This record gives sequence, structure tokens and C-alpha cells, in this order.
Amino acid sequence: MSEEIKTKVSRREFLKDAGLVVGGATIGSAAILSACKGETKTVTSTVTNTATSTVTKTVEVKGDTKYVCPFDSMEFNSVADLQAHLASAHADKKLDNIVSFTLNGTPYTLVVEPWWPVSMVLRDILGFYDVKVGCDFGNCGTCTVLVEKNGKQIPMFSCLMVAGELNGKVITTCDGLSNGITPSPVQKKFYDEDAFQCGYCTPGLILAATALLADNPKPTADEVRYAFSGHLCFCNNMTKTVSAMVGGVE
Ligand code: FES
Ligand code: FES
Repeated sequence: MSEEIKTKVSRREFLKDAGLVVGGATIGSAAILSACKGETKTVTSTVTNTATSTVTKTVEVKGDTKYVCPFDSMEFNSVADLQAHLASAHADKKLDNIVSFTLNGTPYTLVVEPWWPVSMVLRDILGFYDVKVGCDFGNCGTCTVLVEKNGKQIPMFSCLMVAGELNGKVITTCDGLSNGITPSPVQKKFYDEDAFQCGYCTPGLILAATALLADNPKPTADEVRYAFSGHLCFCNNMTKTVSAMVGGVE
């Protein structure tokens, strides 16, 4: 393959970036107390500034999830044990800002400022770049995540959530809908029907569609339009996106 062809960016590559396939996740902040369980894994993130550079970090986690104290690196088996340790051993530290939540099936405990937008926590601290930020004030829907409430997945704008309310939340981003290899049925339908152009709005729409189909597996066009009404597609591709979801997925 010629160099010229190799450097072309296809729409499907854009889709990959948009989170239809699990993108890189970077674990890069000292504020992270714990994350991940299972075997050794490598996470990769590509950062583009004036030049493109790739940051690769290997995270080695053995056995069960451990909650690690950020001050002395002691490990604990539960958030409650960690918090008891923090209260007794580090009472002099500012501990109010510790939040624990589950993101795409993985438990996280972070030190945050309560006013941080959740979209910023997900992207800039945890490296979930499938969460897009379009407007940053609740107008475009690109930052949508699913938040579990009473057993249901509710689409919410993460730019309007603050980190202080993360405690106990179970959150799913577009990456979390698949195992990184097999797309979810909604992801596959978007892919098969080319229901995207640049793909920037796509993760939010896929999450909104996933929540809709969980309640209403065979939605009409009006029902899909209503579910997508909080989302903007700057490529003006909504007609195709809506039609891809009418009648649901196989
Ligand atoms: S970035 Fe959150 S609604 Fe636009
Ligand atoms: S496909 Fe480009 S913003 Fe919707």
C-alpha cells in the first residue's frame, strides 16, 4: 500500500474514533485511586497537537480490584475500607472530594473538584475520548452518557453533570456498549447503514438510540426523532440517522 493511501482517513476510521470501536483509554492522573481488574493490559492514547505523538502506558493489575490510597499506596479490597483508611490515616488531607463510580463496568475512585464537568473527568482524566464535547452547555448532545437509574439506562449530558454527583453512579459511554471487537446491535446498524458523516455526534446518538430501544424495540420515526431531539448533527445527517433506527435493530 502506498504511503499516500495509508495516510488517507476513511469515514470508517472516523467512526472508530467516534467510539464505535473501543478507542484508546489513558490512565494518566495521580488522582486516580483505582481502576481495572483482571489481567495485565496496555492502554494507548494518541494526542495530536502541532505534531502527532502516541502515549502508551501499561497498567498491570493482578487479581481482584484493589482500591489504592493516593497518599501511601496501600491497597484495599473495597471503597469502604479505603475510605476508613483515609479517614484514620490521612485525616489531615482534604478527603471530601473522593468519588467512587462504575464506568463501562470498571470501578473508579477519583479525587476530583466537585464542580468539574463530568465530560471533562471522562475525557481529560480518564481518557474516554468517545465522549465528545460540542458545546459544553447542554445544547448539542454529543457528550451524552448513559446513567443507570432504577435499573434503566438514562441518557444524560455529561457536560451538565458535575463530578461531585458521580458517587455511586453506574455510567456507560459508547465504548462500553461493545467488547471492543463485536459492536452492539445499535452500533452495527449505524455502521451498516452509514448513519453518520464526520461521526462527531455519533456516540451520543448511539447511546440515545440504545436507551430508546431498551424501552421501545420498534420505534416509529416520530419516536426516534423525539429521542434524538436533544442532539444536533452539524453534518446535517439526521434524516439518515433517524431512518436507521426506525423499526429498531435485528
Ligand atoms: S457538549 Fe454537552 S450538550 Fe453539547
Ligand atoms: S455526522 Fe458530523 S456532526 Fe453528525
